[in-house]
Amino acid sequence: MTKPLNVGTIGYGFMGKAHSNAYATVNHFFDLQYRPVLKAVCARNAEKAQAFAATWGYESVETDWRKLIERKDIDLIDICTPNNTHAEIAIAAAKAGKMILCEKPLSMTGPEGLHMVEAVEKAKVPNMVWYNYRRVPAVTLAKQLIDEGRLGRIFHYRAKFLQDWTINPELPQGGAALWRLDAAAAGSGVTGDLLAHCIDTALWLNGNLDSISATTETFVKERKHNLTGKVEKVGIDDAAIFMGRFHNGSLASFESTRYARGHKALYTFEINGEHASIFWDLHDLHRLQYFDHRDQGIVRGWRSIHVSDSDHPYMGNWWVPGLQIGYEHSFVHQVADFLKGLETGKPAMPDFRDAYRTQLVLDAILESAKSEKWVKVVHG
Ligand SMILES: NC(=O)c1ccc[n+]([C@@H]2O[C@H](COP(=O)([O-])OP(=O)(O)OC[C@H]3O[C@@H](n4cnc5c(N)ncnc54)[C@H](O)[C@@H]3O)[C@@H](O)[C@H]2O)c1
Repeated sequence: MTKPLNVGTIGYGFMGKAHSNAYATVNHFFDLQYRPVLKAVCARNAEKAQAFAATWGYESVETDWRKLIERKDIDLIDICTPNNTHAEIAIAAAKAGKMILCEKPLSMTGPEGLHMVEAVEKAKVPNMVWYNYRRVPAVTLAKQLIDEGRLGRIFHYRAKFLQDWTINPELPQGGAALWRLDAAAAGSGVTGDLLAHCIDTALWLNGNLDSISATTETFVKERKHNLTGKVEKVGIDDAAIFMGRFHNGSLASFESTRYARGHKALYTFEINGEHASIFWDLHDLHRLQYFDHRDQGIVRGWRSIHVSDSDHPYMGNWWVPGLQIGYEHSFVHQVADFLKGLETGKPAMPDFRDAYRTQLVLDAILESAKSEKWVKVVHG
């Protein structure tokens, strides 16, 4: 018999869907003691929230997240709302003794993130941040190969996250669909939205970043604001590029932009080591490219590993070898690992403290871009 775990999800947008799908699917494929129950969804628009609840099978609806947090029948609060709401909701949920899953980036700034870390640690509530790319099987396999020492000493870590959806200067900022362009709601632009993912993966695969030199640009300086109706200054970064030094001596090169015409969500990373290199591409997410210099010369070359065999990470839980899975499965894996963590007492990562480390790197990027100087990353 599985134990029910009552979930209260806040926000029914992109991530509200991705998470609801994960809760609904996880026990079909993973053998777990806990079973998420879609108890309540919360959003300000009651009609839309009702429609979402009906589609996804939520038992009830709330229109004020404070009411949801007060409810005795909710075990876990899932924060799927814009970045400027994460801290207030998470701190209140921790005080109410709820488990918390929070979308990334953890917070608007490092200091705000630290308050959240302190709140969950004081309340001793299980917590996790949705840096889901760690759980794409090919990325998890990259971690396994690195931890086995196959790459040897690491020289380079190179990551990019490229999009092209904000090039039109007529696109307004702010409001429901465009909060990402409004600094008051998002905190930053591509730095917190896209680079945050690249940094979480990098810290996990390659350890701490020690220092950073960054530059950012806002290509469209003014946009009409959907909430005020006025043309206002744009406060987010449209593009961010940084170089840096990892603690293990390797060099970092990172780029993210929403102005790379032709690219929709091109997240790639490449790691070059003394013996071997690894390359991964979100557009081809079930493959890991691997080059091993120790192979016999006449057959040496890049291998394109189709990460779909039953001994690949997570894949034994899915279909037969050779059949691949996709983006949504990374969220299913994250829920599975979180529930396993509750079972075993070994929490799934990244928890708030781990995600706070990424926040400190984001702060260092923005500080360096502003000061035009190298900045040392504070280690949390
Ligand atoms: N892990 C990932 O890959 C990933 C991908 C996309 C977004 N995100 C993160 O998820 C979060 C949400 O992004 P999204 O793309 O789902 O946004 P979205 O705009 O699609 O959805 C946001 C939802 O929050 C609701 N909302 C806003 N303020 C609210 C409030 N005060 N009370 C209740 N509901 C409120 C909106 O009505 C909407 O349902 C952001 O922090 C974002 O950075 C993460």
